[in-house]
Amino acid sequence: MVSMSEQEVFPGRRENRAIRDRKRKRKITIGVAAGVIVALLGGGATVWAVSNQPAPEIAPAKPKPKPTPTPEPTPTPEPVIEPAPPVYDVDTPSSISVVVNKQRSLNPIDWAPDDLVTPEGIPNVWGHPLRAEASAALQQMYQAASDAGVPFTITSGYRDYWLQKDIYDGLVAQGGVEFADQDTARPSHSEHQTGLAVDLFGAEGCQLSACFGETATGIWLRDNAYQFGYILRYHDGEQAIVGYTYEPWHFRYVGVEIATAMHDQDELNLETFLGLPPAPTN
Ligand code: DAL
Ligand code: ZN
Repeated sequence: MVSMSEQEVFPGRRENRAIRDRKRKRKITIGVAAGVIVALLGGGATVWAVSNQPAPEIAPAKPKPKPTPTPEPTPTPEPVIEPAPPVYDVDTPSSISVVVNKQRSLNPIDWAPDDLVTPEGIPNVWGHPLRAEASAALQQMYQAASDAGVPFTITSGYRDYWLQKDIYDGLVAQGGVEFADQDTARPSHSEHQTGLAVDLFGAEGCQLSACFGETATGIWLRDNAYQFGYILRYHDGEQAIVGYTYEPWHFRYVGVEIATAMHDQDELNLETFLGLPPAPTN
């Protein structure tokens, strides 16, 4: 007996299967397409969502903590060393800074310098010498004064103990002790005995008179002597300190250092500058 294939036996069933197969394929195709669309839409949405999100806030970078500095070792402060003030020898008779006044005498009382010279080129009434350093400085001052139109004349320089005694004793005889003490030193108390003092006057006259201070020569000397190491020793109104009345003609050599320091400090008196007590009386 010939067996018949199922198709042959059930041709309607075969047709139904073909239809079912086509439907299944179509379903699969639709499903795949739907999946692809969903996937595409989903991806696009994701891209859109991502691209439209606000930029994430980025926290500012925390500043790096500064490294703790290694403490420097505390330097030991340098000790402040004040320059010592200059020390001037006010006692030794041969010292350029020796101080003699009514309270201070030369020691020995008849001390005499050993370096006296006569200043060259300067008119000199009595031909008095001076100590070499003071003489050289006076010559320079004379040159400068001459250049300024106020040359001067020496009326007194070095006076030894005996000459000073004669002058003082003569004034005592003339007017008494009080009169003599006003403007004349007792022997061993005079700067003229040191060889460092000089009395000057100019072409205007006023020799050994207060009016010399008002002359061009007197004014120039008062203002410029310090540059050559000289100071005007007995200023007007300073008798309570220096012991003598105004002597605009009496200049004392103390060296440029002291003279300039006194000038710069507006210091009139040697006693005050050197820290010595006033010497108003004998
Ligand atoms: N005229 C001054 C003070 C002296 O005699 O030294
Ligand atoms: Zn004098």
